[in-house]
Amino acid sequence: MTIEFRDVHASYNADIPILKGVSFTVEDGEFVAFVGTNGAGKSTTMRLVNGLLKPESGEVLVDGVPTTQLKTSELARRVGFLFQNPDNQICCNTVREELLFSFRALGALDAEAERRVDEIIAEFAFNPDDDPFLLNRGTRQLLALASTIVVAPPVIVLDEPTTGLDFRECVKVMDIIRHLHENGTTVIMVCHDMEVVADFAERVIVMSDGCVVDQGPTFEVLRNRHTLKAANLVPPQIVDISLGLNMMRPDLEGTLVATANTLNEMELAIATAVGKPEAASSVPTYAPTAPGAEDALVEGGAR
Ligand SMILES: Nc1ncnc2c1ncn2[C@@H]1O[C@H](COP(=O)(O)OP(=O)(O)OP(=O)(O)O)[C@@H](O)[C@H]1O
Ligand SMILES: [Mg+2]
Repeated sequence: MTIEFRDVHASYNADIPILKGVSFTVEDGEFVAFVGTNGAGKSTTMRLVNGLLKPESGEVLVDGVPTTQLKTSELARRVGFLFQNPDNQICCNTVREELLFSFRALGALDAEAERRVDEIIAEFAFNPDDDPFLLNRGTRQLLALASTIVVAPPVIVLDEPTTGLDFRECVKVMDIIRHLHENGTTVIMVCHDMEVVADFAERVIVMSDGCVVDQGPTFEVLRNRHTLKAANLVPPQIVDISLGLNMMRPDLEGTLVATANTLNEMELAIATAVGKPEAASSVPTYAPTAPGAEDALVEGGAR
C-alpha cells in the first residue's frame, strides 16, 4: 500500500501555516524514517497520513485514494498509528480490553479477534488483567504498539516509538517493528535517534520548518553535511567514522558510498577499507542479533 503527499499545505489554525508544500511517496513495503528538528512538522505529517488532520490544499493519497474520500474507519483499517505519547492511545481498564478495543473500533470484534488478542498477549508476555495505566512506561509503549498491530494494518505509522525507553525496551520494540517490516508491512517512523534510524530505515525524509529539505537512501542522507546542518541532526557514530576516514583517505569515498547503504554494510566497507573485514561484526548495533551488542553496552561500550 503506497502513501503519497502531493504539495500538501496544512495547519491547526488558518493564520499559522505548519506544512508548506510537502511532497513525498512511500512505496509499498518500504521502511522510511522521518527526521528533523522539534516543531519541524513530523507529527503533523503523520496525522495527515491517518486522516486525523486533512490537508488545506494538495492531496494525501493512500493507495491512490485521497484521505478526504475515505471514512475514518476505512483509513484506520489501512493505516495503524502509534502516537508520540502512548497515554493518548490507552483508554481501557485492562490489557485484554485495550487490545480488543482496536477491533471494536473497526467494528470487527468477533471470535477470530478474541483469538488474535490472546495470541498477541502470549507473544508480548502481557498479563491480560493488568491495568494499563499502572504499567511502567516501556510496557505501556509496548501495549500501545500491540494495540496498533493486533489488527494487522498494511501500513504502520510510528511517532517516536523508542523515545523514553531504555536500551533493552528499545531493542524489543524495534525487533517487533523489524519483524513486521520483514513480513511486508510498510513502516513510516518518526525518530530522533539517528542510531536507530541508521540501523533500521531504508530511506530517510528530512523535515525542517514545515518543508521536506532532503530525502534519499539512509546513508546518502546521513552523510550529507548540508542536510545534517540544515536539520540540526547528529549523525550516527558510524557515519562520523566514515566521514573522518574519508578525510584521511578520499580515494575510499567511491567504495564506501557505492557499497554501503545500511549500517552493517557501512561497517563492513570501513573494516574492509582498513584491511580488517573480520572486525565488522564486532561493532555494537541496536540489532538484537548483533553478537555482543547488549554486553558491549553493559560494559560501557560504544553507546
Ligand atoms: N494541536 C496543535 N495545535 C496548534 N499547533 C500545533 C498543534 N500541534 C503542533 N502544533 C504546532 O505545529 C508545529 C509542528 O509541530 P509538530 O508536532 O508537527 O512537530 P514535530 O516535528 O513532530 O516536533 P517534535 O520533534 O517536537 O515532536 C509546531 O510549531 C507546533 O507548535
Ligand atoms: Mg512530533
